[in-house]
Amino acid sequence: MRAFAYLDHNATSPLRPAAFDAMVEALRAAGNPSSVHRSGRTARGIVDAARRQVATLAGALPSEIVFTSGGTEANNMAIGGSGRGRVLVSAVEHDSVLRAAPDAKLIPVDAEGVVDLGALERLLAASDEPALVSVMFANNETGVLQPIADVVRLARKAGALVHCDAVQGAGKVPVDLHGLGVDYLSLSAHKFGGPTGVGALVVRDGAPFASDRRGGGQESNRRAGTENVAGIAGFGAAAAAARDGLAVEGLRDRLEASLLAIAPGARVFGAGARRLGNTTCISMPGVKAETQVMALDLAGVCVSAGAACSSGKVQRSAVLRAMNVQDSEAATAIRISCGWNTESDDIECLIAAWRDLYIRVVHSDLTRARAA
Ligand SMILES: Cc1ncc(COP(=O)(O)O)c(C=O)c1O
Repeated sequence: MRAFAYLDHNATSPLRPAAFDAMVEALRAAGNPSSVHRSGRTARGIVDAARRQVATLAGALPSEIVFTSGGTEANNMAIGGSGRGRVLVSAVEHDSVLRAAPDAKLIPVDAEGVVDLGALERLLAASDEPALVSVMFANNETGVLQPIADVVRLARKAGALVHCDAVQGAGKVPVDLHGLGVDYLSLSAHKFGGPTGVGALVVRDGAPFASDRRGGGQESNRRAGTENVAGIAGFGAAAAAARDGLAVEGLRDRLEASLLAIAPGARVFGAGARRLGNTTCISMPGVKAETQVMALDLAGVCVSAGAACSSGKVQRSAVLRAMNVQDSEAATAIRISCGWNTESDDIECLIAAWRDLYIRVVHSDLTRARAA
């Protein structure tokens, strides 16, 4: 069995070999894509090739791709760039959406984490002011998929624009800008084997968009600043490699069945909804998420205690709270996320470490109870 298992792909997925190679090649080709000389043209060629690869992954036209520094910037640009003052966002969005729209009205979710379409309809009808609706493709903590086609249908009826944060969906399951009918789609390379610090906002041809960046005319005046050529090359290569998505449902299902059998009372959050095949958010009754993450880390297994945040601090999950999960139960939930290089051995390694921890905890509880 493996001594190390990386099961935190929703935080960052390790760089795919094809992305690494493309980046090294791009780093060798010095040049600014805006320069007219040969070095500039080489860099422009790299960026344009990657643009086509990313467009194919997102079901978009190359001209609809705006490269950014990642999903956070793409989400901020969509909210700010749509020009809509009235914004409706789901209660389970990533902070880069919630904090970009602090005055937004929250669309509630049900106990499985699926957006309440009736509530969305009522919120849309509450005012004549044109709105922007932002609902994510898949949740980063639970993997729950949102009914984007229904969201678009309701939004269109009310004359609203739609933004979809597809950072956790792209490269894992098919994502199609035009098939979904959304106006803006956010992507991030490092969630499916590209490098960190690069992503894209896909802006549907004809959708209103105004950039608040001041500077050069890069990205067809939609995102000023010299492009991150090597990062974009890695993004494109990862997008091409990820085109077929992930086939890890079998591993995920085996993992969940084993963990639920080990710890009676454990719960998989969002289990009743359509979910990404790579994500499990599960509680171990009575054992704090931080304790589980540390114990698993000591056993060589990397998972997360909810959404990774920059401070490294573990906060109570706003996603689970929106799903009406008690704080005491949410405090025991960890996120396990598989990816492109996950194998059966990784899952076995996690199951063994989780079982060891659970037995240790139950045993020490029993010892304490006997001593009392
Ligand atoms: C759903 C979702 N949106 C946006 C982001 C931010 O992406 P990035 O890390 O590229 O800024 C993340 C990252 O965790 C995410 O999970």
